[in-house]
Amino acid sequence: DTSLRALASKQGLRFGTAVDASQLGTNKAYTGIVNTQFSVVTAENAMKWDAVEPSQGVYDWKAADDLVRSAQHNGQAVRGHTLMWHNQLPSWLTTGVGDGSISNAQLRDILRRHVTDEVTHFKGKIWQWDVVNEVFANSWETPQADGLNADDFWIQHLGSGIVADVFRWAHKADPKALLMYNDYNIAGEDGTNVKFQAVYTFVKHLRKQGVPIDGIGEQGHLDTQYGFNAQQYQADLQAFGDLGLKVAVTEADVRTFVNNATDQVPTSSLAEFAQPYEFSELLKGCELVRQCISFTVWGVHDGDSWIPGTFSGEGYGLLFNVSMQPKTAYSTLQQDL
Ligand code: XIL
Repeated sequence: DTSLRALASKQGLRFGTAVDASQLGTNKAYTGIVNTQFSVVTAENAMKWDAVEPSQGVYDWKAADDLVRSAQHNGQAVRGHTLMWHNQLPSWLTTGVGDGSISNAQLRDILRRHVTDEVTHFKGKIWQWDVVNEVFANSWETPQADGLNADDFWIQHLGSGIVADVFRWAHKADPKALLMYNDYNIAGEDGTNVKFQAVYTFVKHLRKQGVPIDGIGEQGHLDTQYGFNAQQYQADLQAFGDLGLKVAVTEADVRTFVNNATDQVPTSSLAEFAQPYEFSELLKGCELVRQCISFTVWGVHDGDSWIPGTFSGEGYGLLFNVSMQPKTAYSTLQQDL
């Protein structure tokens, strides 16, 4: 068995993908790849707040439950994604905050209930939760003194202390789930490495205070047009590991410019080298850091990736092409495992 999941399991690693809940079980080729290649799955959207609570107090767990059931059936662990994030919030919540009908005190109660209800609903079924997602400032954003993004929806309304509280609420609801902080550009950045430093200092402090945080998720969204400092990446992952934290690569993809979003043929033939190289380094960092427990790619094939819809003119980010055929990056990772 030379599948990614079989090769990874030989070294105690789970190899994962983000899954589009609407294709699972209905699209045969898609489902086949998910279940033969991957041993851990993340709901790409089905566990986000807007999906599970479209109107206040009315939960819809159907898509997420189906995904979890399918995972259990196929010997796959589940990464829960995500509990506190500024994106994909239900409109009843953002509207209520916007027009002042939800006060900050009420917002805090609403968040606590959301975290508690969702973690309780899936209790015992989730291996790792991305408890908090993307609250640190990027180079183009405004950092607070502690490095959190001053303009982040949650930080703005509830302050930095909310991060620790959300971890505590999640832990209370499912004491056995691994609780992760998930973000991008937090490992392998060149130069002063500001975002890594901020996350590192913040989580070190959380650990010291006894906040139940178990690990760091490095998303791993790369782009062949930017450099990727593989040595720095590995050192950064190791630094998190040395704090006693587990590490996971949670949303790997390597995008590049393409001729069009349908065929996703790279404009430069160099992409055929750059992409496998960057995927390879992303995986190797995880393999070399003992605390790294899973490596997840953000989608199954190029036709199903978020990239063309988000980064204008880009695509070709995953291990299978638009025809669901394995790419060079796939065989490269196979060899690396
Ligand atoms: C993306 C999904 O892939 C898209 O389908 C959706 O429209 C928007 O969100 N960081 C994250 C993920 O943590 O949840 C995002 O997923 C990609 C960036």
